[in-house]
Amino acid sequence: MKKTWQIAVIAGDGIGPEVLREGIKVLDTAARLDGSFELQFHDFPWGCEYYAKHGKMMDEDGMEQLRKFDAIYLGAVGYPGVPDHISLWDLLLRIRKGFEQYVNIRPIKLLRGAPCPLAGVPREAVDMLFIRENSEGEYAGAGEWLFRGKPEEVVLQTGVFSRKGTERIIRYAFATARELGKSLTSISKGNALNYSMVFWDEVFAEVAKEYPDVPTHSYLVDAASMFMIKEPQRFEVVVTSNLFGDILTDLGAAIAGGLGLAAGANINPERTYPSMFEPIHGSAPDIAGKGIANPLAAIWSASQMLEFFGYKHLAELVLQGIEETLVEHEVLTPDMGGTSATAEVGDEVAGKIIRLF
Ligand code: NAI
Ligand code: MG
Repeated sequence: MKKTWQIAVIAGDGIGPEVLREGIKVLDTAARLDGSFELQFHDFPWGCEYYAKHGKMMDEDGMEQLRKFDAIYLGAVGYPGVPDHISLWDLLLRIRKGFEQYVNIRPIKLLRGAPCPLAGVPREAVDMLFIRENSEGEYAGAGEWLFRGKPEEVVLQTGVFSRKGTERIIRYAFATARELGKSLTSISKGNALNYSMVFWDEVFAEVAKEYPDVPTHSYLVDAASMFMIKEPQRFEVVVTSNLFGDILTDLGAAIAGGLGLAAGANINPERTYPSMFEPIHGSAPDIAGKGIANPLAAIWSASQMLEFFGYKHLAELVLQGIEETLVEHEVLTPDMGGTSATAEVGDEVAGKIIRLF
């Protein structure tokens, strides 16, 4: 019997639905070529438009509805008129936290044909896999706001680093580095953050003992951001905290072809809950509805989903399809210097993987 994967689609706002349509096109093509499995997509209308109508970002029992799916494919959430902290906390972060998606995987790989602002850096030098802590750290939402509006006003934003949370992300990163036969770099800031990052460094050193075969490096986050620009070849698999990972992966996106190419996966490694795959860009209200959004990031995150399901050969095929589209430079959206529409780029990648299969 054919395996069927159930995928919840939260296309969301702005260009979200436009780019996901192309990702789904490519996923369907890959599944048809392979023939051993089927993908079933189920649309959820949640997001800011839903909020405008119903006063909430998702249904009350939304998490229960999503729970039975094998994966969530997310476009983008956020639109002018709904405060960003509401759209982020009430949908995206609810899913990430509720489904214990404590690993955020962001490939930072400069594909052939992708634009790179770094001069004199060979393409192969930019090939990193960022593993960002996705459940606690500086984004735990813990803190205090005291004496609001008074002269003695004080705010505290607390970084939360539990042993369980820190160990599991670092162990996941070591296991990934071992599997790929690559080095692992930890990025922290133990000199200034004298509790959280000293603890992080200690846990990193402890877990490293279980993986003596994995070469390790440690950088302070400020030095790391310099080296990512000057000597990106230093980084292979990278593990870092929630905040540092958020910032550094946007830097990474910039050197690996821009937001139109950057993908991210939110993984629940135990597979107790669905994992979530998304382009890392937002809803791009400035170009929404024009049919010119770049779907390549959404397509790359579709490739991550295929890999998560165990179809590594198809994941690579999709990446190759993206790469060839970039190299040919004939069918690309305006952000990549082309003149094509979103749907044309999706068709192009789908056509390429049919030919490459
Ligand atoms: P953004 O990523 O939506 O846009 C930044 C710039 O990049 C814009 O000029 C946009 O046109 C361009 N851009 C982004 N994706 C593109 C694509 N696929 N093709 C071509 N150009 C693209 O970030 P911004 O403007 O800061 O945020 C807009 C809204 O999106 C906000 O409400 C924000 O909260 C939300 N957002 C949601 C995210 C998510 O759902 N994961 C992530 C980032 C922002
Ligand atoms: Mg970000």
